Amino acid sequence: MEFVFEKEKNKDNIEDLEIFIKETKDSPGALMPIMQETQEIFGYLPLEMLQLISRRTNTPLADIYGVATFYSQFTFIPMGEYKINVCLGTACYVKGAQGILEAIEKELGIKHGDTTPDLKFSIIEARCLGDCGLAPVFTINDDVYPHVKKDDIKGILDKYR
Ligand code: FES
Repeated sequence: MEFVFEKEKNKDNIEDLEIFIKETKDSPGALMPIMQETQEIFGYLPLEMLQLISRRTNTPLADIYGVATFYSQFTFIPMGEYKINVCLGTACYVKGAQGILEAIEKELGIKHGDTTPDLKFSIIEARCLGDCGLAPVFTINDDVYPHVKKDDIKGILDKYR
């Protein structure tokens, strides 16, 4: 899925990033904090900003890509308004979390790690949400859905549509 990066809408964010790059770029190992700041500001790494970092730091774009793809903290996809965190930890897995994940994917028409084209929902896999007694469990932003069944999925998602 291709998402359009709107420069005009992001004008202030771009300015913030430009200032951060200016202040940071001459320190050793500056690339990592610059990329972290980029993700912090935009919620992901827009291609246009990677190109900007490349120009400002005189780093080949391929090297920047290399770092971005090596570390799982970085994403090239913008986050949706509602972040669905599906727990696939052991306790949830044995109670059918995989089926829950697939039901959510089917309902939204996207795979985990992806965002719907209207930027409403993103699906993320979690390892353990830290409350295994609720298995299988997923969250939508701060809302927790415990002991969830496949048949509940549509009704739950409809609340956010
Ligand atoms: S395994 Fe799902 S909350 Fe722990």
